[in-house]
Order: sequence, then C-alpha cells, then structure tokens
Amino acid sequence: MKKIVISTGGGDAPGLNAVIYAVVMSAELRGWEVYGSRGGYKGLLDLDELIRLTPEKVADITALGGTILGSTNKGNPFEMPVENLAGEIQMRDVSDRIVKNFTRMGFMCHLAVGGDGSLDIARRFFEEKGMPVIGVPKTIDNDLYATQLTFGFDTAVSTATGAIDKLHSTAKSHDRVMVVEVMGRDSGWIALNSGISGGADVILIPEIPFDMECVCEKIADNDLHGKHYAIVVVAEGAKARNSEAIHKEGEIGRQEVLLGGIGEWVAKEIRIRTDKDTRSLVLGHIQRGGSPTTFDRLLALRFGAAAVRMAEKGQFGHMVSLINGKMDDVTLEEATKKRKMVDVSDDKVMTAREIGICLGAANLCAESVNY
Ligand code: F6P
Repeated sequence: MKKIVISTGGGDAPGLNAVIYAVVMSAELRGWEVYGSRGGYKGLLDLDELIRLTPEKVADITALGGTILGSTNKGNPFEMPVENLAGEIQMRDVSDRIVKNFTRMGFMCHLAVGGDGSLDIARRFFEEKGMPVIGVPKTIDNDLYATQLTFGFDTAVSTATGAIDKLHSTAKSHDRVMVVEVMGRDSGWIALNSGISGGADVILIPEIPFDMECVCEKIADNDLHGKHYAIVVVAEGAKARNSEAIHKEGEIGRQEVLLGGIGEWVAKEIRIRTDKDTRSLVLGHIQRGGSPTTFDRLLALRFGAAAVRMAEKGQFGHMVSLINGKMDDVTLEEATKKRKMVDVSDDKVMTAREIGICLGAANLCAESVNY
C-alpha cells in the first residue's frame, strides 16, 4: 500500500482544506493511504502530530476556511527555534530527523502546500535531502510567478472589494479620506484588483514607490470636481519614495518581517497636507479568513487532484501550476527563483490610469498618458 503525507505551511489561505480534500479522495481512489502533518513539518518531527486522513475525516471540509492541519510561518526545519536546557532559544537544523521519520513511515511522497517560503523549504528537502516532494502553490498575495494564479487570492480580493464598497457611503457622508491597508507584502495584486474594482481614488503598491504630493494632488482634484471624499487603498508593503516599508517587531523563528502601519502613516500625511479629515483601517487577516470563493475552491480542488496525479507519475521536485488555464507543472527550482510582481505595463495598471486612479507616481497619473 502506497502512503503519502501532506502538510500546509506559511500563512493560511482560503482553499487549503479543498486541496486536502482532493488529495485524500484522489489518493483513496488509487488505494493509497494519506497522512497529514500538523503545524507544517511538526507531524514529521514528532509522529504524535501525524494524523491519518480518511475520506470520512475530510468530508465537508471543502468550503471551510483555514486548514484542518494547522500551519505556521515559524517552522523552517533547516532553522527551527528550539529551547535549550537553559531556557534559551537556539536555531537548530532538524531536517535530518524529518527525513528519518519520513522514511520510517514508508512515505513515497510529501505534498507540501505553501507559499514562496514553504516551497523553498520543499525545494531544499528535494535537492539537499533527496526527499520525494511535490509542491502545491498557495498564497493570498498571488506573488508566485510560476503559476498564473494561486488559490486564496480571489477570496482575499472579494473580501477587500466588499470592504472598500462599504467605505464609500461613510466617507461621502463625512467628506473624509478613508485609507484602507490591505495585505500584499512584496506585490500589490490584492490592492490593485480590489482598488480598481472597489472604485478607489488612489492605489499604492510595493512595486511603485509613492509620492505624497501626487496622492494629495488627486485628493485636491477630487475636491475641485465636487467630490469631497476619497478612498485610498494601500498594500502593507507599499513605501514612500526613498523610504523603506513600515514593519513591526520581529518574531523568533519567523524568516520574514511583519509588515503593517503604512495605512496609518499615509492617513496622517494626508491630514497634515490637505487638512482633510482622514481615517485609516487595516483589513488584516479578515482577508485570509472565511470560506473560499467558488473560484478558489475549484482551483484548490484541481491543484490537489493534479498533485496526486503527479505523485503517481513520480514527478518529484515539481510544483503543480496553473498555466494558460490548465493544470501544468514546473520544477520547484523554477517556482521559487523569483516573485510575480505587478508590472507597470500590466493592463490593470493601464486600466487604473485610464479610469483616473492615482498610483502615487506623477509619471503614472492619468494626465501623463499620451493619447
Ligand atoms: O503572505 C501572506 C500574508 O498574508 C502577507 O500578506 C502578510 O504580510 C503575512 O502573510 C502575514 O502573516 P501573519 O499571519 O504571520 O501575520
């Protein structure tokens, strides 16, 4: 009997449970046993955290948000924070213990569902430890370049657009500038998609360092045209020209910085520079929560089933990916070598400019478009 193990790593995303469901059902069809590693790699480190996943256990989870396996972004086995006898935290490489447990359990494949960080760990297990791994791409940020889309993104954008929609009436009633901070650490896809769809006046993204003067000009222009309120959508990783992204204190074991605070900073600057009433809000993890949209569910189910087909064919060291609307695959090496960023030549950026949205840079303002 063939046995496989699945883990979910990094920040959760709506659709993870749909992947688990599809993997369990497709594997069952082939007569394979599926195990789930709780908390990222924890289940492979401590076998008590490994659970047998049966069709009964996963019935009804497709529409559930989060992940029934739990997840972590502090669980890199190559650099795991471990407490020593003196109570001090030390970084340890526990990858060999994981490989040993994987072999002892007789697994033929590990399906690693994750974003760029988790997929890079999966790549290292494949390349450095010879573990048969298949990656499944996940992130609400949609910044994995080797796949057209990741599940979780559509749900996050829908949530953000819904929130922006609701802000119009209150902003208008009070003649206020509402600044909404959305997720997107390195790429502005959530901000761009939700901002355009939600009728934002200004969208600020990490790929385009912004100028407050340009932002305030747009707000003044609104006023001139009788619109006394504005909606500004800011990605958490956006930065003012010649400045760094605003981040919070780090957490032990976490490889990436925790971003947040740019929305409040932008709101304060607008208040000082325009004298307008401003309010800021952070949408935060609401974007990661709740039930996946139909689009995300379907994509996640397709990814899960395709990953099992890949395991059957022995396509280890690869990641399932959506290319030209179809299930395809790429090597983990290719998948993790760069991020998918918003390009200024993207038609969404052009659309934003042409419908009068300010992107925070004078050279990208509607007036600078030559027709
Ligand atoms: O990568 C997905 C993401 O949602 C980012 O947009 C965000 O910066 C980060 O995760 C937040 O992580 P955490 O759940 O640890 O706060």
